[in-house]
Amino acid sequence: MPDMSDAAKRAQELRERINRHDRLYYVENEPEISDREYDRLFAELEDLEEDHPEIVTPDSPTQRVGAEPESELGKVEHVTAMLSLDAGRDKDQIADFIDRVCETVGDNDVTLLAEPKFDGLSIEVVYEEGRFCRASTRGDGQTGEDISHTLRTVHALPLRLKEADEVRADLAVRGEVILPKSSFQKVNKARVERGDAPFANPRNAAAGILRRLDPSEAESIRFAVTFYDATGIDTENAPGQRELLEALRDLGFPVLGDRARCETLEDAEAFHDDMQDRREELDYEIDGIVLKLDARKAREKLGQRSRSPRWAIAWKFPPRTVETRIADIVVGVGRTGALTPVALLDPVDVGGVTVARATLHNIKEVHRNDLRVGDTVRIERAGDVIPEVAERVPKPGVERSDPFEMPDRCPSCGARVERRGPLTYCPAGVACPAQLAAKLVHYGARGAMDIEGLGEQTAEQLVERDMVKDIADLYELSVEELTAVDGFAEASAEALQDAIHARGEVPLDRFLRALGIPHVGADAARRLAMAFGTLEAVKEASASDIEEIGGIGAETAQSVAAFFAEERNCDVVARLLDAGVAPQPVERAGRSLEGQTFVLTGTLEEWTREEATEEIERRGGRVTSSVSGNTDYVVVGTDPGSKREDAREEGVEMLDEDAFAKMLG
Ligand code: IVH
Repeated sequence: MPDMSDAAKRAQELRERINRHDRLYYVENEPEISDREYDRLFAELEDLEEDHPEIVTPDSPTQRVGAEPESELGKVEHVTAMLSLDAGRDKDQIADFIDRVCETVGDNDVTLLAEPKFDGLSIEVVYEEGRFCRASTRGDGQTGEDISHTLRTVHALPLRLKEADEVRADLAVRGEVILPKSSFQKVNKARVERGDAPFANPRNAAAGILRRLDPSEAESIRFAVTFYDATGIDTENAPGQRELLEALRDLGFPVLGDRARCETLEDAEAFHDDMQDRREELDYEIDGIVLKLDARKAREKLGQRSRSPRWAIAWKFPPRTVETRIADIVVGVGRTGALTPVALLDPVDVGGVTVARATLHNIKEVHRNDLRVGDTVRIERAGDVIPEVAERVPKPGVERSDPFEMPDRCPSCGARVERRGPLTYCPAGVACPAQLAAKLVHYGARGAMDIEGLGEQTAEQLVERDMVKDIADLYELSVEELTAVDGFAEASAEALQDAIHARGEVPLDRFLRALGIPHVGADAARRLAMAFGTLEAVKEASASDIEEIGGIGAETAQSVAAFFAEERNCDVVARLLDAGVAPQPVERAGRSLEGQTFVLTGTLEEWTREEATEEIERRGGRVTSSVSGNTDYVVVGTDPGSKREDAREEGVEMLDEDAFAKMLG
């Protein structure tokens, strides 16, 4: 036990740190440490104060009643307490639950309804006379934070209910706001580029963005919502959970995902296993299933514990987080010259995927998490297959290596690096072998020029052997030269040369994307191509012309104009055109599908999934990955997945390939 003065000093230090993290978490929405780390600090302080009661100060965070500090958001009293769920992880616990329910209800044919357990931000939304009134987080269950200002910007949430007249009483609905996995990646990418910490998972991201005072970021993101409970819909109209969900849907609320009636433990298990299998294909995170006694009236017999009902239970999936060790930290050089620290990990299996490396984003992140070679870390695979280092796991008594620092020189070409805020760049451009190789790979990638056989290893060799100095040189490679590349025989060299020259006529948007102009991804390329029609027009456009087309920010517009102002870039483009590359104008499609939501399932003959998505988006429609009440059409190809069943259940119109083609015109 430390002596008194040490204890007092350490306690004061802990209080200051805890206060700071409280402010970062609750007020600024920018937590720097994980909840676990925070709990550890708090527990250490509690222990110290318990051992040395004389050092407790009245303003110590441990003395705060309720422990939840004030945030700047308003408080909202919930209509009735927002309960949480008991969780089971194995079949036995679920069997016990079912037994208890049967016993209490006094019936052996109890029907349970199984739903996905959505891993989003829990919310309550109150409607008065069919109009959106306010939205709040769960908070401590009784009182939550007012997030009406951000929830109002979520398009998936109805502001006025469809059958408002029939809703005589006021309504409080409960559900989750979800940041789709596809948007999660974008949000994190933008944060890292700004020098902010990436969110560890979509739930944290949703909470962080929606609990902000300023709604502008929330506005720019397409959140999903789903609902599973309501007060104000009586049991006569909706005797079961199933009818309740239907009633919610009729009122215009999205109700996502599958559900299943379960009469037995085996039924529940089948649904659990099926959802676990399909977890990856969903565009939102689920972390288990929820089993609920279907009969709403009978739930009263079961009642509740202090914080959770006895008529429902969560059956969780195994966690997708795992601990491993950082074997080394290396530095990669990307196509734009950005130097990225990458952790090489002792390989581990995280939910069925072997993870051996994880990006650490930038030096600020490495220092924020205090990650060093040899440290044990917790890896989380959420939102996508790309794993994140969620936190460092301190190992007391284990000596640590020195803090990691970025190199002063580019590891590929040796140029002195430039630092811009938290980011480090190699300024050498295509003179840097790593940047040039990455540019070649990007040029040949799917969605760009789609050159089969131009992978990372091949590109690296082409650069290393001085066979190319820019992307236009690809077109001058002879079969003879290519056979010098490791792993290439005459046939494969010929195949690569053919693949390079095969793509003469290419849609303008793909060509623009292939050029690797900073900030120009698929979306910006498509907008540019559609707005300007020809390469000439894009080249001649000024930054302000580009900004005017909408959907393209100032930074991207500047970047495009700057790219074509550079003589060297224009030279490369001219040589590509001379070599036979002929960007084709993208037809400006009408906005015939404006506001329509599609889901694709199965294989189409005419289009790849990317192409079909592109066709829909060009016409103003959008494509989501799962069927919900908001889906307008499901396009069904051969060998369709379960989405066809979903569509049937939801009563969503289905289109076969012919009908889809007709719709596109
Ligand atoms: S029912 C009173 N259904 O999970 C019953 N909750 O970990 C409680 N959740 O607090 C809610 N999906 O925020 C229910 N299909 C679902 C859910 C769900 C996710 C959340 C809910 C709950 C938490 C418990």
